Amino acid sequence: MVELFSDSVVQWPCDALAVGVYEHGKPQDALETIHREWWTRVQRVLEEGWLRGKAGEFLMLPLADATSGPSRLLLMGLGKEDAITPLTLEHTGARLIKTAQNHGITKLGCLIALDRHNGIPPGRCVQHLAQGAWNGSYRFDRFKSKKNDSDEGSRQGVTLELAVRKAKKDRISRKLERLRHIRDGQFLARDLGNMPGNLLTPEMMATRARQLTEDFPIQVTVWNEKDLKKNRMNGILAVGQGSVNPPRLIIMEYRQGGERPLLAVVGKAITFDSGGISLKPGAKMEEMKFDMAGGAAVMGFIQAIAAMNLKVNVIGLIPAAENLPSGHAQRPGDIIETASGQWVEVINTDAEGRLVLADALHHAQSFAPDMIIDLATLTGACVVALGSEASGLMGYNKKLLRKLERIGRRVGEKLWPLPLFPGYQDLLKSPVADMKNVGGRDAGAITGGCFLSRFVDREIPWAHIDIAGTAWDMSGKKPSQPKGATGVGVRLLCRFAEKELC
Ligand code: BES
Ligand code: MN
Ligand code: ZN
Repeated sequence: MVELFSDSVVQWPCDALAVGVYEHGKPQDALETIHREWWTRVQRVLEEGWLRGKAGEFLMLPLADATSGPSRLLLMGLGKEDAITPLTLEHTGARLIKTAQNHGITKLGCLIALDRHNGIPPGRCVQHLAQGAWNGSYRFDRFKSKKNDSDEGSRQGVTLELAVRKAKKDRISRKLERLRHIRDGQFLARDLGNMPGNLLTPEMMATRARQLTEDFPIQVTVWNEKDLKKNRMNGILAVGQGSVNPPRLIIMEYRQGGERPLLAVVGKAITFDSGGISLKPGAKMEEMKFDMAGGAAVMGFIQAIAAMNLKVNVIGLIPAAENLPSGHAQRPGDIIETASGQWVEVINTDAEGRLVLADALHHAQSFAPDMIIDLATLTGACVVALGSEASGLMGYNKKLLRKLERIGRRVGEKLWPLPLFPGYQDLLKSPVADMKNVGGRDAGAITGGCFLSRFVDREIPWAHIDIAGTAWDMSGKKPSQPKGATGVGVRLLCRFAEKELC
């Protein structure tokens, strides 16, 4: 769907050629050197105010003189030049595909990546445009008997041909190859996320993980209830005990990095979160099928690094359980001994993510990792604090947090820090056990982070990422995000692995 080309643009046999236009009516620089006459024409059109260049605006111009080469110019608004970010470009990539589909264009050339935009060099422009084109075109239609039966109408295939300079083509082409693997990992995470609770149980997640071992040098161990009992993982067991679909701990090992550092990633995977006996209200409860997004991101990430053949060491831990009420379910007031030996008073069975993570984080340390990152749709409070713009970032290791924040900005998965001041820890005090599993209404995302921090040795750099607001999006408002799971975390972790573990 995305290809590169570096031949003469004027001759390029595409249906249309896309050119970027900034707000304030200025076409991107490259057009002037490539085709003076087109450039003059575009200038005129802009002077007359046919297009302002706002992000998402576009205008189609026929090229009547065309014998070979494109027959239309597609002027694509990029917004204010100094406001362009990776995300703007990603949205542009998605919009290019949509516009092409709506206009019967099957082959769309594109000049946008020939220029630097707001300091983002051409190679990265290719990256963001391609990711936007892919992400926007993602479909989850397994359960649509007629595959074109989506609300956005029928869609035909579009090839987006991104122009790049000859000297850079090989390098960018290799980069694009890597990005395809990251995309596939992200799509695995989205597919898993979009699966409903009846079809994706903890055991089904384990099956999916085992399948990866057929194609990649990944080792998978799955702990069933007996193994969990043997290892005193009462957090995972307690959360899962209300469901007929028993809990699992999925352990994925990818060790291709020799003596390089070891990263442990832990992902919350509640395949459906009803709240348990502390039952959630009915509105939007169906969205709690996405409550395994952390685990899905871990799986997508490990598939991606294996497909890229990255020389790194990673352990993935996915505690998977279904949180349902029943005669077997845990109750408010129950006291459980977690794998770490710490006792927890379960005040609210809907604060289940931290219980499964407590055991998984504790177990992660037995691999002697150099750092631990966990991803979890942990708290509604994080959605209140940050909405869907950014995930919450917590931990005590400033260096690790800073690195993640920077990488997040770069890949378009923003993170924002929340403090774990000691005062917040006090909110978890219990009169009968070592701690409660909830801290009350105040600072809900933070007390979630505080709870987790108690299961990680302070010496190990650790980051907790609350993806409750970013793991899925039902708004349909972001061009590169169809309704449903986002696959958030995969790109962040992949870039982290490439930068920090190699
Ligand atoms: N999975 C939810 C958090 C959640 C809620 C994610 C809404 C995305 C959207 C989590 O298990 C949960 O229920 N958390 C409780 C914690 C509370 C009881 C301390 C919450 O946020 O209400
Ligand atoms: Mn819950
Ligand atoms: Zn949950």
